[in-house]
Amino acid sequence: MRKPLKKAVLPVAGLGTRFLPATKVLAKEMLPVVDKPLIQYAIEEARAAGIEQFCLVTGRGKTALVEHFDLAYELEHTLKERAKTDALDLLRSTAMAPGSLMSVRQQVPLGLGHAIWCARAFVGDDPFAILLPDDLVLADVSWVKQLAEVYAETGGNVVAVEEVPREHTNRYGILKTGKDDGRVAEVLGLVEKPKPEEAPSTLSIIGRYVLMPEVIAEIARFEKGAGGEIQLTDAMARLIGRQPFHGLRCQGRRFDCGDKAGFLEAQIAFALKRPDLAGKVRAFLARYV
Ligand code: UTP
Repeated sequence: MRKPLKKAVLPVAGLGTRFLPATKVLAKEMLPVVDKPLIQYAIEEARAAGIEQFCLVTGRGKTALVEHFDLAYELEHTLKERAKTDALDLLRSTAMAPGSLMSVRQQVPLGLGHAIWCARAFVGDDPFAILLPDDLVLADVSWVKQLAEVYAETGGNVVAVEEVPREHTNRYGILKTGKDDGRVAEVLGLVEKPKPEEAPSTLSIIGRYVLMPEVIAEIARFEKGAGGEIQLTDAMARLIGRQPFHGLRCQGRRFDCGDKAGFLEAQIAFALKRPDLAGKVRAFLARYV
C-alpha cells in the first residue's frame, strides 16, 4: 500500500536577487499578489491536497514567513472591537493547526537540493511534496492534488512539467521522456539548465514535486551541479530506474513570480478573477493598452 502524502517542504531561503531592492529586508515569498503573500497561496494549495504537516526552509531575515502563520492577538482584538468581520475572516485564514508548521534553517543558500536536504529530519521515511512558492498556480484543482493522484497510481516520484521555448531550457530542469500519453510522461532522464542545443526535450520541471524520501540520501552526496549549486534535479535523476518517475502536465496556469514580468502578469490574472476588482482592473487596463 502507498504511504499517504501528508508532508510538504517549502524552500524559501533563496536570496531573491531579481527583486532587489524589494527583497533587501523582505522575503520574496512575502510579496503579495493582490492582497495575499505568495507563501500563503502555496500553503493553501498544499492544504487543498490533504497536506497536514509543513516545513519552511528559511534563512536569515525570513522570520516574517513563519510569523505570518501565527496568531496576531492585538490585531484580532482590535478588529473584534471595531466589528470588522471581513478583515477578521481574512486574518483567520492564516491560522495553522497547532504543531503543523515547522521551520528549519539553511544558513547559506547552497542550492535548492541543499535546501531540501536541510528538511531531512522532517521528511523522515515519508513521501513529501515540494512547493516553490514563487511559482504561483491559478487552477481549479490544486497542483499538489493533481500530482498526488498520479503518485497514488504510480507509487513513485512525480513532478509538474510544462513546455518551454527551446531558448529557455537553460533556466529549467529538463526531462528526457519515454512513454508519454500527452498528460503523464515517463521520465528517463533529467538534466538541469541544459543549453538549448543540448536539451533532450523542451519539457521542463515547474516548482511542484512529489518525491520519495530516498532522494535525501542522493542529495547528501553534495555534488555541485549547474551554477556550482547543489541541485535537486541531479539527486532526482539518480532515482530514475530505481523508482517510478513521471512528469505531469497539470491543468491550470503557472506564473513565474520570481521574475518581474511573471509577477506583474500574476497580479492582473488574479485580480481579474476577483469579483470586487475585475471591473476596475479591466477599465484601467484599457487606458494603458
Ligand atoms: P530561485 O532560483 O528563484 O532563487 O530559487 P532565489 O534566490 O529565490 O531568487 P533569485 O534568482 O536570486 O532572484 C527557487 C526556490 O528555491 C529556494 C528559493 O527560496 C525559491 O523558493 N532556494 C533556492 C532555497 O531555499 N535555497 C537555495 O539555496 C536556493
